[in-house]
This record gives sequence, C-alpha cells and structure tokens, in this order.
Amino acid sequence: MTPHSHSRPFSCFVTGTDTEIGKTFVSCALLHAFAQSGARVAGMKPVAAGAVWREGAWRNEDVEALAAASTLQFPQTLTAPYVFSTPAAPHIAAAIDGVTIDPAQILSCYGQLRDQSDAVVVEGVGGFCVPLTDYFDTADLAQQLALPVILVVGLRLGCISQALLTAQAIAARGLVLAGWVANTVDTEMAYVPENIQALAGRLPAPLLGHIPRFAQSSAEAGAACLDLSLLNSLFPRRLESSASAQRNL
Ligand SMILES: Nc1ncnc2c1ncn2[C@@H]1O[C@H](COP(=O)(O)OP(=O)(O)OP(=O)(O)O)[C@@H](O)[C@H]1O
Ligand SMILES: [Mg+2]
Repeated sequence: MTPHSHSRPFSCFVTGTDTEIGKTFVSCALLHAFAQSGARVAGMKPVAAGAVWREGAWRNEDVEALAAASTLQFPQTLTAPYVFSTPAAPHIAAAIDGVTIDPAQILSCYGQLRDQSDAVVVEGVGGFCVPLTDYFDTADLAQQLALPVILVVGLRLGCISQALLTAQAIAARGLVLAGWVANTVDTEMAYVPENIQALAGRLPAPLLGHIPRFAQSSAEAGAACLDLSLLNSLFPRRLESSASAQRNL
C-alpha cells in the first residue's frame, strides 16, 4: 500500500456495516494519516452510548481514542456533544438519561470544529441508519453534515449485503461514498479475497485498504494499510483546499 504520507486531509463521515466492526479504529487511522501529512485534525463522535463517570465527565472509549489520534484538542462538549451512560441504541440511551438529541446542536459543534481544523473525521453511530430521535437518524445526520462518506466493511459472513445496502442508503441521501475499507473482524472467515472482490466490483468507490487483525491495534498500524491517494482523483478541489472548500459547503 502507498505510505500514508501521500494522503491529503479532508473532512469525512465514517460509517460501517454494523456496530463493533472498526469504525473507531479506521477513524483513528484516518486521523493519523492526515496528521502525518501535517494537517491539524480533530475527531468527532456526535453521539456516544456507553460511558463511565471519571474526572467530572462521562468518558467513552471512542471519544478518548479519537482524541488521542487527533492533533487538535477541543472540549468534549464539542467533539462529543452527546455522551450517554448506557451502552444501547442512541435513542434508547438518550431516553434513559432523559435527553433528546438535538441535530442542530451537533451541526453547531461540527461547524466549530471544522472552522478550527484542516479536517474533521466524524464517526457515526452503529450502522448507517441508526435512529437518533423519533424523527432523525444517523443517515439524516450524515446528510446534514454533507460530508463524503467512508464505509468500513467488517469482514465476516453477511458483510456483502450489509455493505451494498449501506452504499444504496448513502447514495439515496445524495451523499458521495468516497471509499471503503475492508477490516478483518472474523479471522476465521472463509473466502476473504472472493468477498473483497465481490464488493470491489459492486461498490461505487475505491477500496482504500484491507486491514488485517492486529494483535495490538494502533492508529499508526491502521494508517499504514490505507492508500488515501486513491481519494485524490475523486475530490481534487476539495483535497487541494480542504478547509476552505469544506467551509463553503
Ligand atoms: N483490524 C483490527 N485489528 C485489531 N483490532 C481491531 C481491528 N479493528 C477493530 N479492532 C478492535 O475491535 C474493537 C471494535 O472496533 P471499533 O471500536 O473500532 O468498532 P466500531 O465500529 O467503532 O464500534 P462502535 O459501533 O461501538 O462504535 C475495538 O477494540 C478495536 O480496537
Ligand atoms: Mg466506535
């Protein structure tokens, strides 16, 4: 794979075929790759469910991992405006905490991060269509953020249909699928090359990398598996002046 130093930063929305399939891992890898190119980057997790109370705030693993991979540090109220204590679907976790997620609040936080960064990597919640309120889901959020989408495919039996359905949902929202990443979830999975080939022939975006299962995962190791130069031809103008182009969206 091309070294990550060839990557240029751009803000994106990272979604996945399911929960627990490597969205945070790939988001951190993207942040690391962008940081390697000298960019000032920040991760954002608009809605996080499952947290422990520590040092005066609710702490969530994803939020902390994204912050660790970011070069810019912002208050958690901006990078993670909704952190819920219960590890459950967001609208359920929010109800348990007596909170209603306000999409305008998320957009406002994102705008503040974007204005102070070269690129913001926004990690979605669960799969692409997870409800956030009775009337608003993660797909709506991605649409309102108007960001190119990176799809993480968790390699296991069933992932082909999950990935193709997600790509359809992304296109139905008028969003661009900028690229996809094959991330090893089931190390016992049979016919991995055939599965990847089936997806590569059907997904309307480049495969940015195939990530093995690491004994110890790190943003750096993940970044080394990604060829982000494949994105350059897709977003030449946005990539050349990512910060200003994003501001004009
Ligand atoms: N390629 C990999 N090699 C080693 N560990 C990995 C790899 N991909 C993911 N993991 C680990 O698997 C777990 C789940 O991954 P991750 O947290 O990135 O999933 P997610 O899709 O963000 O989940 P959620 O829906 O909860 O946000 C984490 O402990 C992560 O470090
Ligand atoms: Mg995550």
